[in-house]
Amino acid sequence: MIVEQNVPLQPHNSFGIVAKARALVRVRGEADIQQVLRDREYGTVPKFVLGGGSNIVLTGDVKPLVLKVEVMGRRLVDDGPKAVVLEAGAGENWHEFVTWTLEQGHAGLENLALIPGTVGASPVQNVGAYGVELQDRFESLDAIDLVTGKSFTLDAAQCAFGYRDSVFKHVASKDGDFGLGGRALIVRVRFRLPKPWKPVLGYVDLQRKIQETGIREPDARQIYDWVCAVRGAKLPDPRIIGNAGSFFKNPTVTPEQCQDIIAREPNIVHYPLPDGTVKLAAGWLIDACGWKGKSVGNAGVYEKQALVLVNRGGATGGEVVTLARAIQTSVYERFGIRLEPEPVVV
Ligand code: EPU
Repeated sequence: MIVEQNVPLQPHNSFGIVAKARALVRVRGEADIQQVLRDREYGTVPKFVLGGGSNIVLTGDVKPLVLKVEVMGRRLVDDGPKAVVLEAGAGENWHEFVTWTLEQGHAGLENLALIPGTVGASPVQNVGAYGVELQDRFESLDAIDLVTGKSFTLDAAQCAFGYRDSVFKHVASKDGDFGLGGRALIVRVRFRLPKPWKPVLGYVDLQRKIQETGIREPDARQIYDWVCAVRGAKLPDPRIIGNAGSFFKNPTVTPEQCQDIIAREPNIVHYPLPDGTVKLAAGWLIDACGWKGKSVGNAGVYEKQALVLVNRGGATGGEVVTLARAIQTSVYERFGIRLEPEPVVV
């Protein structure tokens, strides 16, 4: 087992924040984890699982042992009459995997193109974009328990997916709450792409593309290209400007709360949900508070999408957190809504 010491993590977090891992082990398969867990020095120390680092804010050097997930491989598991099942190692880059599925002729993940991060991180926050969430295309995943070393498989129900949420975001509590946060390492994920393929075109930006191009019945590759273009136009590329995608979740409120806000703010962007609650656009709320383009130190609010915080160069995790708190305070003071951050602060 190779334990690397003082490893720079700047290339491994999409915010591009400078920090180090005191100790880091690269995990290429289950055997590597077993070795770590059997190790006399590192077996029982706290551990931190790092995927593509696209959903974390590093506020200093990482003291727990970093397990850098580099499990690779992609394969067709089953091509049946009702669906195709595909599998990828947790360390595979998400967007490259999506591109590969389309190249293989399997449609279904095109709306999720260009989401930063790895395959293994995708179920943790149930990534979603342009009308599709990971849970809509999920079959099962293999993981390993970092305490017992046991391997296990979870289906969608067991993952307890919610909006940007899953069992992997919750920590088990003494009160009996079930959670695998900090305890499980996802090794590989399987996706179920239903047949016949049905395009998902409800999202307003995709409707706009239909109008612009006159293509009423786009194929999956066309939708993939549109999604890439839409994202490219309003979201910063983390290879050029450090960021972690949307920094806050879109909040939901009761219809009464929404009416109350509409009375004061007639232009507020809101979407009624099937369960009767109303989703508000956090980006709109932040924008309305005048944050677009503002900065705290080297951390800033992206000019084209107020929901995205960016590293303008040399930002610290502390600056990002300070900016996020200031935004939360002003949104709360104006709208009475508490914004919940998406990334994990480490
Ligand atoms: N808006 C503003 N000002 C802003 C930003 C947004 O007025 O600065 C308004 C827009 O005009 C629009 C509404 O807010 O009417 C929603 O904006 P957008 O369509 O950009 O989507 P979003 O709700 O801000 C969510 C996801 C994104 C995902 C897009 C597309 C969350 C937290 N974010 O953003 O996910 O790509 O929808 O489906 O749910 C991510 O999670 O990292 C992410 C990028």
